[in-house]
Amino acid sequence: MNKILVTGGAGFIGSNFIHYLLERYDDCYITNVDLLTYAGNLDNLTNISDDPRYRFIKADIVDFVSISNLVSQGFDTIVNFAAESHVDRSIEAPGIFVRTNVLGTQSLLEAARRFGVKKFVQVSTDEVYGSLGQEGYFTETSPLNPTSPYSASKTAADHLVLAYGHTFGLSVNVTRCSNNYGTYQFPEKLIPLMITNALADKPLPVYGDGMNVRDWLHVRDHCCAVDLVMRQARTGEIYNIGGNNERTNIDIVKIILRRLNKPESLIMFVQDRPGHDRRYAIDSSKLRKDLGWEPKYSFDRGVIETIEWYCNNIKWWEKIKSGEYLRYYEQMYDNRKKAN
Ligand code: NAD
Ligand code: TYD
Repeated sequence: MNKILVTGGAGFIGSNFIHYLLERYDDCYITNVDLLTYAGNLDNLTNISDDPRYRFIKADIVDFVSISNLVSQGFDTIVNFAAESHVDRSIEAPGIFVRTNVLGTQSLLEAARRFGVKKFVQVSTDEVYGSLGQEGYFTETSPLNPTSPYSASKTAADHLVLAYGHTFGLSVNVTRCSNNYGTYQFPEKLIPLMITNALADKPLPVYGDGMNVRDWLHVRDHCCAVDLVMRQARTGEIYNIGGNNERTNIDIVKIILRRLNKPESLIMFVQDRPGHDRRYAIDSSKLRKDLGWEPKYSFDRGVIETIEWYCNNIKWWEKIKSGEYLRYYEQMYDNRKKAN
């Protein structure tokens, strides 16, 4: 498993995964292919850009000609992180989610099959299962019931991956992880958005009643799980990844405010997300039993380290929040305030 093609490696989880592999293995050679959309940021990789085990190629995973040319160079493994990943954006503009997440995955699968890639790992999400009530957990056999254009596009991709395994004998795995947090997360997602707004004394927009529940996992624990799956999982297996760490959104927001010594008066309840899933919770016992995975970060430690990272890397996120993202933010949250 030496030559690894990582797609979407300039994004949040992909860049953490590249750091994770390079720190851990001397004998892995990583090609990072990323289109550098608004979410792709080469600043996430500056300290390894000269590493001889690493190279970056800017390309669109949907562009089959470019992808075939690249994959024909010979890879042991493809790990597909590249995606449009933000639910709110998928409600504003669903088409790009179908393009990237469905067509992009199919283009990678086709190239993998033609050029003899030995393992294809699809990084999927617990959101493919839809929403839970107050009880229960998603297992790998739970029905797929996606509710947003984002999760529907990820579900379609999962089916394509499994179909390529079944029909063409491509060695595939699918991982379905819960909500991640940690370094380099784009500040449109809940935790970094709230940290960066609080640092700037700006309102913290909480959707609906703030009682939606997510199961939070540190990104390094997710990377460790994907690495185990890539190296050890039997072909065709699906693995859920989750931290058994359910929190309501309002709890998360209050933890951040307390740690930063900011007042709760910054909290602003705004109009709910349309179709907002109430609760996600993951049963990851299969991954623990088959591959011996255990999360290493407690949420208490992980969230403090993450808050500190954002405090110490203000330039990283200020650059993002002062550019194109600012226009998106103003438009998205002005509409919510008006409708509330
Ligand atoms: P992200 O939005 O931070 O990064 C996505 C990356 O993909 C960016 O670097 C972007 O430039 C790149 N990309 C987008 N379209 C592309 C294209 N057409 N061609 C090549 N590159 C393209 O996302 P993330 O949070 O790092 O998520 C990575 C993967 O993990 C996604 O597939 C997502 O569905 C999945 N996932 C995310 C979470 C989470 O909490 N963030 C949880 C479970 C699963
Ligand atoms: P998000 O980070 O967008 O992840 P996902 O929707 O994929 O779970 O949102 C996490 C939760 O936080 C979700 O219930 C929506 C909520 N949320 C807010 O309340 N306010 C916000 O500004 C954002 C971005 C999210």
